[in-house]
Amino acid sequence: MSRLPFITFEGSEGCGKSTQVRLLAERLTNAGVPLLLTREPGGTAIGEKIRDLLQFDPVSVAMTPETEVLLFEASRSQLVREKILPALDQGKVVISDRFADSTAVYQGVARRLDAEIVGHLNNLAVGRCWPDMTFVLDVDVPVARARMLRRVRPAAVPDRMEQEPLKFYEDVCAAYRELAAREPRRVQLIDGAQTIEAIETEIWERIASRFPHLASLADPEPRSHFP
Ligand code: TMP
Repeated sequence: MSRLPFITFEGSEGCGKSTQVRLLAERLTNAGVPLLLTREPGGTAIGEKIRDLLQFDPVSVAMTPETEVLLFEASRSQLVREKILPALDQGKVVISDRFADSTAVYQGVARRLDAEIVGHLNNLAVGRCWPDMTFVLDVDVPVARARMLRRVRPAAVPDRMEQEPLKFYEDVCAAYRELAAREPRRVQLIDGAQTIEAIETEIWERIASRFPHLASLADPEPRSHFP
Protein backbone atom coordinates (compact mmCIF):
# COMPACT_ATOMS: atom_id res chain seq x y z
CA MET A 1 0.00 0.00 0.00
CA SER A 2 1.40 3.42 -0.91
CA ARG A 3 1.85 5.81 1.97
CA LEU A 4 -0.71 8.52 2.59
CA PRO A 5 0.14 12.07 1.51
CA PHE A 6 1.77 15.01 3.22
CA ILE A 7 -0.33 18.09 2.40
CA THR A 8 0.51 21.70 3.25
CA PHE A 9 -1.46 24.94 3.15
CA GLU A 10 0.07 28.29 2.37
CA GLY A 11 -0.92 31.88 1.72
CA SER A 12 -0.80 35.38 3.10
CA GLU A 13 -2.34 36.22 6.47
CA GLY A 14 -6.12 36.46 6.10
CA CYS A 15 -6.25 34.13 3.08
CA GLY A 16 -8.49 31.61 4.88
CA LYS A 17 -6.03 28.71 5.00
CA SER A 18 -6.53 27.84 8.65
CA THR A 19 -10.28 27.41 8.06
CA GLN A 20 -9.56 25.06 5.16
CA VAL A 21 -6.99 23.13 7.20
CA ARG A 22 -9.63 22.60 9.87
CA LEU A 23 -12.31 21.52 7.36
CA LEU A 24 -10.02 19.02 5.65
CA ALA A 25 -8.88 17.63 9.00
CA GLU A 26 -12.52 17.26 10.11
CA ARG A 27 -13.46 15.45 6.89
CA LEU A 28 -10.62 12.95 7.30
CA THR A 29 -11.08 12.47 11.03
CA ASN A 30 -14.84 11.92 10.64
CA ALA A 31 -14.06 9.24 8.06
CA GLY A 32 -11.63 7.55 10.47
CA VAL A 33 -8.52 8.35 8.39
CA PRO A 34 -5.41 8.48 10.64
CA LEU A 35 -4.07 12.01 10.67
CA LEU A 36 -1.37 14.29 12.04
CA LEU A 37 -2.46 17.92 11.99
CA THR A 38 0.30 20.39 12.63
CA ARG A 39 1.45 23.94 12.01
CA GLU A 40 4.53 26.06 11.49
CA PRO A 41 6.24 27.55 13.24
CA GLY A 42 5.41 25.16 16.05
CA GLY A 43 4.02 21.65 16.22
CA THR A 44 6.56 20.38 18.79
CA ALA A 45 7.42 21.55 22.31
CA ILE A 46 10.61 23.17 20.96
CA GLY A 47 8.78 24.60 17.93
CA GLU A 48 6.01 26.19 20.03
CA LYS A 49 8.64 28.00 22.11
CA ILE A 50 10.26 29.22 18.90
CA ARG A 51 6.80 30.34 17.69
CA ASP A 52 6.29 32.45 20.80
CA LEU A 53 9.72 34.00 20.42
CA LEU A 54 9.15 34.76 16.72
CA GLN A 55 5.66 36.14 16.98
CA PHE A 56 4.92 37.57 20.40
CA ASP A 57 8.01 37.96 22.58
CA PRO A 58 8.87 41.68 22.90
CA VAL A 59 12.59 40.89 22.45
CA SER A 60 11.82 39.90 18.85
CA VAL A 61 11.55 43.55 17.75
CA ALA A 62 15.35 43.48 17.57
CA MET A 63 15.47 40.26 15.53
CA THR A 64 17.52 40.31 12.35
CA PRO A 65 16.20 38.60 9.17
CA GLU A 66 19.08 36.09 9.44
CA THR A 67 18.09 35.11 12.99
CA GLU A 68 14.48 34.90 11.90
CA VAL A 69 15.15 32.50 9.02
CA LEU A 70 17.30 30.26 11.23
CA LEU A 71 14.58 30.10 13.88
CA PHE A 72 11.94 29.10 11.32
CA GLU A 73 14.30 26.41 10.03
CA ALA A 74 15.08 25.22 13.57
CA SER A 75 11.38 24.79 14.26
CA ARG A 76 10.97 22.94 10.95
CA SER A 77 13.93 20.56 11.46
CA GLN A 78 12.45 19.50 14.77
CA LEU A 79 8.93 19.09 13.38
CA VAL A 80 10.04 16.99 10.41
CA ARG A 81 12.07 14.54 12.47
CA GLU A 82 10.02 14.43 15.67
CA LYS A 83 6.53 14.38 14.16
CA ILE A 84 6.07 14.37 10.38
CA LEU A 85 8.35 11.51 9.32
CA PRO A 86 7.17 9.18 12.13
CA ALA A 87 3.51 9.97 11.31
CA LEU A 88 3.99 9.19 7.60
CA ASP A 89 5.80 5.96 8.55
CA GLN A 90 2.84 5.04 10.77
CA GLY A 91 0.49 5.37 7.77
CA LYS A 92 -1.01 8.74 8.66
CA VAL A 93 -1.98 11.63 6.43
CA VAL A 94 -0.03 14.73 7.49
CA ILE A 95 -1.52 18.21 7.10
CA SER A 96 0.54 21.27 7.99
CA ASP A 97 -0.67 24.85 8.23
CA ARG A 98 2.42 26.41 6.55
CA PHE A 99 5.75 24.72 5.78
CA ALA A 100 8.98 25.42 3.90
CA ASP A 101 7.31 27.45 1.11
CA SER A 102 6.52 30.10 3.74
CA THR A 103 10.25 30.59 4.32
CA ALA A 104 11.00 30.77 0.59
CA VAL A 105 8.27 33.41 0.21
CA TYR A 106 8.50 35.45 3.42
CA GLN A 107 12.24 35.35 4.10
CA GLY A 108 13.56 34.57 0.60
CA VAL A 109 11.41 37.13 -1.25
CA ALA A 110 9.60 39.57 1.07
CA ARG A 111 12.57 39.93 3.50
CA ARG A 112 14.98 39.94 0.55
CA LEU A 113 17.41 37.34 1.96
CA ASP A 114 19.43 35.44 -0.64
CA ALA A 115 16.89 33.04 -2.16
CA GLU A 116 19.54 30.43 -2.94
CA ILE A 117 20.78 30.35 0.65
CA VAL A 118 17.18 30.14 1.90
CA GLY A 119 16.67 27.21 -0.49
CA HIS A 120 19.70 25.42 1.01
CA LEU A 121 18.45 26.07 4.55
CA ASN A 122 15.04 24.70 3.59
CA ASN A 123 16.66 21.58 2.16
CA LEU A 124 18.68 21.10 5.36
CA ALA A 125 15.55 21.31 7.51
CA VAL A 126 13.21 19.35 5.22
CA GLY A 127 15.55 16.63 3.92
CA ARG A 128 13.46 14.46 1.63
CA CYS A 129 10.23 15.31 3.41
CA TRP A 130 8.80 17.72 0.83
CA PRO A 131 4.99 17.89 0.70
CA ASP A 132 3.16 15.82 -1.91
CA MET A 133 0.65 18.61 -2.46
CA THR A 134 0.54 22.25 -1.38
CA PHE A 135 -2.52 24.48 -1.53
CA VAL A 136 -1.94 28.20 -1.85
CA LEU A 137 -5.04 30.24 -1.04
CA ASP A 138 -4.73 33.21 -3.29
CA VAL A 139 -6.47 36.45 -2.29
CA ASP A 140 -5.77 40.03 -3.27
CA VAL A 141 -3.82 41.98 -0.67
CA PRO A 142 -6.61 44.42 0.34
CA VAL A 143 -9.02 41.52 0.97
CA ALA A 144 -6.44 39.62 3.01
CA ARG A 145 -5.51 42.74 5.00
CA ALA A 146 -9.14 43.47 5.82
CA ARG A 147 -9.72 39.89 6.98
CA MET A 148 -6.51 39.90 9.01
CA LEU A 149 -7.43 43.09 10.83
CA ARG A 150 -10.88 41.68 11.69
CA ARG A 151 -9.31 38.64 13.34
CA VAL A 152 -10.02 38.53 17.04
CA ARG A 153 -7.03 37.79 19.21
CA PRO A 154 -7.20 37.57 23.03
CA ALA A 155 -4.97 40.61 23.45
CA ALA A 156 -6.16 42.16 20.16
CA VAL A 157 -2.51 42.83 19.33
CA PRO A 158 -1.21 42.04 15.85
CA ASP A 159 1.79 39.71 15.86
CA ARG A 160 5.18 40.91 14.64
CA MET A 161 4.68 39.81 11.01
CA GLU A 162 1.21 41.32 10.87
CA GLN A 163 2.71 44.76 11.43
CA GLU A 164 4.62 44.74 8.14
CA PRO A 165 3.74 47.39 5.49
CA LEU A 166 1.43 46.70 2.53
CA LYS A 167 4.38 46.22 0.14
CA PHE A 168 5.56 43.24 2.18
CA TYR A 169 2.21 41.49 1.63
CA GLU A 170 2.15 42.41 -2.06
CA ASP A 171 5.53 40.68 -2.37
CA VAL A 172 4.22 37.67 -0.43
CA CYS A 173 1.17 37.26 -2.69
CA ALA A 174 3.21 37.71 -5.87
CA ALA A 175 5.83 35.21 -4.66
CA TYR A 176 3.17 32.55 -3.95
CA ARG A 177 1.74 33.02 -7.46
CA GLU A 178 5.21 32.63 -8.95
CA LEU A 179 5.82 29.51 -6.88
CA ALA A 180 2.58 27.97 -8.19
CA ALA A 181 3.59 28.82 -11.77
CA ARG A 182 7.05 27.25 -11.22
CA GLU A 183 5.81 24.03 -9.58
CA PRO A 184 2.30 23.53 -10.99
CA ARG A 185 2.03 19.86 -10.07
CA ARG A 186 2.81 20.17 -6.37
CA VAL A 187 1.59 23.71 -5.74
CA GLN A 188 -2.13 24.20 -6.36
CA LEU A 189 -3.32 27.81 -6.52
CA ILE A 190 -6.88 28.17 -5.25
CA ASP A 191 -9.00 31.30 -5.64
CA GLY A 192 -9.45 32.32 -2.00
CA ALA A 193 -12.18 34.85 -2.85
CA GLN A 194 -14.71 32.02 -3.32
CA THR A 195 -17.04 30.93 -0.54
CA ILE A 196 -15.62 28.69 2.18
CA GLU A 197 -17.75 25.80 0.88
CA ALA A 198 -16.63 26.26 -2.75
CA ILE A 199 -12.97 26.33 -1.68
CA GLU A 200 -13.42 23.22 0.45
CA THR A 201 -15.02 21.36 -2.47
CA GLU A 202 -12.31 22.41 -4.91
CA ILE A 203 -9.56 21.33 -2.51
CA TRP A 204 -11.15 17.97 -1.89
CA GLU A 205 -11.68 17.33 -5.61
CA ARG A 206 -8.02 18.03 -6.29
CA ILE A 207 -6.92 15.75 -3.43
CA ALA A 208 -9.27 12.99 -4.50
CA SER A 209 -8.10 13.04 -8.10
CA ARG A 210 -4.40 13.00 -7.14
CA PHE A 211 -4.68 10.50 -4.27
CA PRO A 212 -7.44 8.00 -5.15
CA HIS A 213 -6.31 5.72 -2.32
CA LEU A 214 -6.99 8.47 0.22
CA ALA A 215 -10.28 9.34 -1.50
CA SER A 216 -11.43 5.73 -1.21
CA LEU A 217 -10.69 5.75 2.53
CA ALA A 218 -12.52 9.04 3.09
CA ASP A 219 -15.39 8.56 0.64
CA PRO A 220 -16.07 4.83 0.60
CA GLU A 221 -18.68 3.52 -1.85
CA PRO A 222 -22.02 3.09 -0.09
CA ARG A 223 -22.42 -0.57 0.92
CA SER A 224 -25.05 -2.50 -0.97
CA HIS A 225 -27.93 -3.80 1.15
CA PHE A 226 -28.86 -7.45 0.92
CA PRO A 227 -32.48 -8.25 1.65
P1 TMP B 1 0.22 32.09 11.06
O1 TMP B 1 0.50 30.76 11.67
O2 TMP B 1 -0.86 32.84 11.76
O3 TMP B 1 0.03 32.01 9.59
O4 TMP B 1 1.51 32.98 11.34
C1 TMP B 1 2.78 32.58 11.02
C2 TMP B 1 3.55 33.81 10.61
O5 TMP B 1 4.92 33.47 10.40
C3 TMP B 1 3.06 34.40 9.31
O6 TMP B 1 3.19 35.81 9.36
C4 TMP B 1 4.03 33.89 8.29
C5 TMP B 1 5.30 33.78 9.08
N1 TMP B 1 6.22 32.74 8.61
C6 TMP B 1 7.40 33.13 7.99
O7 TMP B 1 7.66 34.33 7.82
N2 TMP B 1 8.26 32.15 7.59
C7 TMP B 1 8.02 30.83 7.79
O8 TMP B 1 8.83 29.97 7.41
C8 TMP B 1 6.78 30.44 8.44
C9 TMP B 1 6.48 29.00 8.68
C10 TMP B 1 5.92 31.44 8.83
